Amino acid sequence: MEIKGKAGVITGGSSGIGRATAERLAKEGAAIVVADLDEAGGAETVKRIESAGGRAVFVKADVTKLEDARRMLDTAMSKYGRLDILHNNAGIGVGAPGYPDAPPERWHLVIEIDLQAVILGTGLAAPLMQKNGGGVIINTASMAGLYPHRQDAVYGAAKGGVVNFTHSLASWEAERKIRVNCICPGIVDTPLVRRGLELAKQHGIKSWMPSKIIQPEEIADAVVSLVRDDSMFGCSLEVRPTGRQIVDPRPAPGSRR
Ligand SMILES: NC(=O)c1ccc[n+]([C@@H]2O[C@H](COP(=O)([O-])OP(=O)(O)OC[C@H]3O[C@@H](n4cnc5c(N)ncnc54)[C@H](O)[C@@H]3O)[C@@H](O)[C@H]2O)c1
Repeated sequence: MEIKGKAGVITGGSSGIGRATAERLAKEGAAIVVADLDEAGGAETVKRIESAGGRAVFVKADVTKLEDARRMLDTAMSKYGRLDILHNNAGIGVGAPGYPDAPPERWHLVIEIDLQAVILGTGLAAPLMQKNGGGVIINTASMAGLYPHRQDAVYGAAKGGVVNFTHSLASWEAERKIRVNCICPGIVDTPLVRRGLELAKQHGIKSWMPSKIIQPEEIADAVVSLVRDDSMFGCSLEVRPTGRQIVDPRPAPGSRR
């Protein structure tokens, strides 16, 4: 897809990976709706995009709430007249003390934000995208969705759900002209990771960091490549410090899967 002239909604756009992706897509010529709970961070993302010559607006939205999810998507339609790109990116981890010692409300919230909100946003965006002849949805999963995640099994379960949800929508490319893919980053240098390390330290839990950590801009690059590449649908893109790898479980043509 040619990005110039398109409109996109980025959830979790006030920080980290979402902010980097919002800035990058705006630089490529897309008009952006930054959706997040964090108003100050959202205002900062919009300011950065506008001062680089791009177009963006902030919508305060809780991605788990139906009305908020509708409002953030409708903003793209009312302000820019179209919706072409959705980056379902907002996310949290359980954090220390971890499962099952953290309160059950916390495990529940991780599933709500990291998995249910992706299903909600995708379902609400589809008919809006079809009004312009289709679109691209990129879900932020994680390596934790592809491999066991001993430190946070609930986060791993949510992200594993996002991966399989994404793979299961491969047929939307033909049926609806909507390509759904996900990115599966390794450890990225964002506030989420820094908060996690601090919490672990407070609870006396040993944590481990790789010697090379991925920058949010590298994930933004990966997202842009998935938006551009029309041959990619129903796939995951694993992003490690050492490079990228496509996970492509698409059924063979003619298969009944
Ligand atoms: N940082 C990593 O190492 C890493 C690795 C793999 C995947 N991820 C995933 O990347 C995504 C972005 O994470 P990040 O590292 O940039 O973290 P971050 O904390 O910097 O950004 C997450 C953003 O999501 C927002 N958010 C949280 N709950 C929300 C809600 N209910 N409604 C709307 N917005 C909400 C936060 O306010 C924040 O701005 C998450 O889905 C995360 O699981 C991160």
